[in-house]
This record gives sequence, structure tokens and C-alpha cells, in this order.
Amino acid sequence: MNCLSHFIRPSDWQQSTYEESFRLADLILQDPGKYSHSCDGKVLASLFFEPSTRTRLSFEAAFQRLGGRVIGFSDQGNTSTAKGESLEDTLRIVEGYVDLIVMRHFLEGAAYLATQTLTKVPVINAGDGSHQHPTQTLTDLYTLHHYQKLGKNLTIGLCGDLLFGRTVHSLIEALEIFGGCHYVCIAPKDLALPAYVQEKVKKGKITFVEDLQEVIGDLDVLYMTRVQKERFVSEQEYERLKGYYILDQEKMDRAKKDMLVMHPLPRVVEVDRKLDKDPRLIFFNQAHLGMYARMALMMKTLGVNLD
Ligand code: CP
Repeated sequence: MNCLSHFIRPSDWQQSTYEESFRLADLILQDPGKYSHSCDGKVLASLFFEPSTRTRLSFEAAFQRLGGRVIGFSDQGNTSTAKGESLEDTLRIVEGYVDLIVMRHFLEGAAYLATQTLTKVPVINAGDGSHQHPTQTLTDLYTLHHYQKLGKNLTIGLCGDLLFGRTVHSLIEALEIFGGCHYVCIAPKDLALPAYVQEKVKKGKITFVEDLQEVIGDLDVLYMTRVQKERFVSEQEYERLKGYYILDQEKMDRAKKDMLVMHPLPRVVEVDRKLDKDPRLIFFNQAHLGMYARMALMMKTLGVNLD
């Protein structure tokens, strides 16, 4: 990797780098106007080869709120990829136009490939296949920091599609940087956490269960995930598994009064909408905080206004 400040996986940053970014995000959150010219004159490329609502729009809103301008696409079908252009060639072209690239791609390792291709501008991984989603993790860690839970020896339930759910893969890698947690993996065998992610757990403790109801009372945080329809080869298999876990009132009645329910979103069926008024469900605020976390990330990546 060259010396550009790429952000491809959570372990690209140390604990101190995360903490600096949280301090900056806190400052922006308190006084956004103070930072509204931090990226004046800069251009961001927002390259989404896969669908997104939160990640793309929060990056784009974040950069515009910092005074920068955004170009890009949200549908690769409208780009020369549809004519057969390679990812490497697309990136070589785009880096001549911009100061920073944010890229989501359906292939695992695509963001790493970008770091091997780009020579002028840094790239931020906005999700690569079922591998990693480090800026969702930045959002998740900043949310834990905001709710004063980070570094508190948490018992965190990771529930749902742990096989394809890249947010969980990245979250475990990042929480290990903060000293680890007790990770309670709640998934059916067909959606179990891959071995290569389990092996990242060196400081924390990891246990595996199938029954959410059995463990919910022990959890400080419940991180719900949807079953990742787009990664399934068989529609029938997706239909069989999509409603495997549904968080409902009966389960929440067994949870601690201060347990936080997080979710990277989108939600499909796994959290009953009747729970939405329960203050323990913080995922809409989590998504909102993500914009400030991404503002801090982009300022750090570009090395602007860090006094
Ligand atoms: N959390 C997340 O990545 O959401 P989007 O797919 O909408 O960006």
C-alpha cells in the first residue's frame, strides 16, 4: 500500500486515531457551522456499484456540509462499466478529477484493489461484498462512544446473518482494537460467523447460540442485522431464513432496562415496528450520528482543519 490515507478496514486505524475522530465528530456535532468551509474547493467522488441509502447519502451530505462538492454515481449501469471498462481503469480516470474517493463494490477485496491502483487520492471503503464495512463500524463505535458504552467490557449480542453481514465482521475487528468484548453470536448454523472473523478475537471472548430469547437478558447491546438477500444464490433459502429472528415485545421484556438495540439498517422484518417508541432502540440516531463520524473521517483523510 502507498502512503495515501486509505480507510479500507477497521485495523487501518489505531485506538488513538478513532478517539481523535470521535473528538472531532463531537465538535462538529456541537457546532456544525464552524466546519462548513473545511472542505471548500475539494471534490469527492461517490462511486456506488451496489445499492445504498445511508452510506451514500450520509457521505454526500457530510461532504457538502463541509463545503465540498460531490460527483459520482449510484448505478453502475449508467457508467462505462456497462460497456466493459475495468474497475482499475474507472478508478484511474476518476482520480484525475477529485481529491477523495468513497467506493462501495459488490466484490470482496475491491477496495483493496483500489489501493493498489490509485496513486494520487485516498479511497474509503463504503462496503466490499460480504467482507468489510469499516465506515458503518466507525458509525457504530461513535454511537457507542456517544452513549458512553465504548470500552466498558460490554456483552454484545450479534444477531442474524453473521455469515454475509459485513458490518459484524468489521465491528468485531474494531472492538478488538478497543480491548475486546464478550461477543455473543446469535445465528443459525447456516448463517454462522465465518472462521476467519472468529480468529480475529484475541482479547475478547466469543460464544455461539441460536436462541435470542435465551441470552437477551445478559446483553448490554444487541446488534441486530438483516438477512442479506443479495448474497443468496437461492431465493428459497433466503425465504427460509429471513424471519429466523424477530425482535418483539416479548423478547424486549426480558432485556435489561438500559440495553441498547443497534442495527446498521436497512431493517426488513427482524425488528418489530411496534417497538419503535422504545428508547432502547437507537438505530435511527445511530444512522444520524454516522454523518458526523464520516465528516470527521473525511477531514482526517484529507488532513484539513485538524487544529
Ligand atoms: N448501513 C448501510 O450500509 O446502509 P445502506 O446500505 O443503506 O448504505
